[in-house]
Amino acid sequence: MKRDLLTILDLSREEIKALLQRAVELKGLHRQGQNPHPLAGKTLAMIFDKPSTRTRVSFEAGMAQLGGTSIYLAPGQTQLDRGEPISDTARVLSRYVDAVVIRTFAQKTVEDLARHSSIPIINGLTDTHHPCQVLSDLLTIQERFGTVEGLKVAWVGDGNNMANSWVTAALHMDFALYLACPQGYGPDGDLLHDAQKQGRHIYLGHDPHWAVQDAHVINTDVWASMGQEAEAAARKEVFKPYQVNAELMKLALPQAIVLHCLPAHRGEEITSEVLDGPQSAAWDQAENRLHLQKALLEWLLK
Ligand code: CP
Ligand code: NVA
Repeated sequence: MKRDLLTILDLSREEIKALLQRAVELKGLHRQGQNPHPLAGKTLAMIFDKPSTRTRVSFEAGMAQLGGTSIYLAPGQTQLDRGEPISDTARVLSRYVDAVVIRTFAQKTVEDLARHSSIPIINGLTDTHHPCQVLSDLLTIQERFGTVEGLKVAWVGDGNNMANSWVTAALHMDFALYLACPQGYGPDGDLLHDAQKQGRHIYLGHDPHWAVQDAHVINTDVWASMGQEAEAAARKEVFKPYQVNAELMKLALPQAIVLHCLPAHRGEEITSEVLDGPQSAAWDQAENRLHLQKALLEWLLK
């Protein structure tokens, strides 16, 4: 049976651990210039309805390194944009390629693509989830602390796609997640409710100091995500107290790391001092997209 990655909930805890382990191996092999080619002859289609630097390049480079190939379908350049249904696109792509990465707006579009495809579908970001990013972030945390389990992870800022994916990660892995979001800007309410009902250590508040206090990992993201450009000015006012800066970092553990999925708006959600500072793991975090996604592609396509 084909598998998809629409949200982190599509994976079990054991599968996440296996992906992290394989990503570590693939990263080591890559560093030694010994990339295996398990995906020779395989093709990945990449439907992008929003811009991307990291997701696009890491998937394309990853496919090439694994011996496969990829086809980038830029925003506005497929018949989807002229009204061809996603279900028809799914049937056709299933006959050409071995998997699809899709970056789009509605999660439902990704679900529809998966339902009508006979090949694995990977969510490369929607308005509500960014599973590949948070899986890679788990790898970065594991590299720094040996494990994510038992740690305190803080989310400061918007309860966006990244925050939702952190909630799904905390459903499977044993770390405590403290989210500090302005009133009305929290993560998906149903998801949070389910997670809390299951007794997971996931807490939502409004005070960044509370979230960051003694945390191992401090996470933030832009205040206006792709598609929310019209709200950007208003959001800047609401989110001002949620900046990750040197002052806030003093509350975290001395060995704490800062994560940002990038792109960052320096001087808004994070200062350059922190992003470029010794506690920033953002650059390893960006690199790890490549290695984690290679493990994911190998697992889904082999
Ligand atoms: N973090 C991330 O997904 O970056 P891109 O938007 O550049 O792909
Ligand atoms: N929340 C951001 C993440 C970008 C990688 C967005 O959706 O624009």
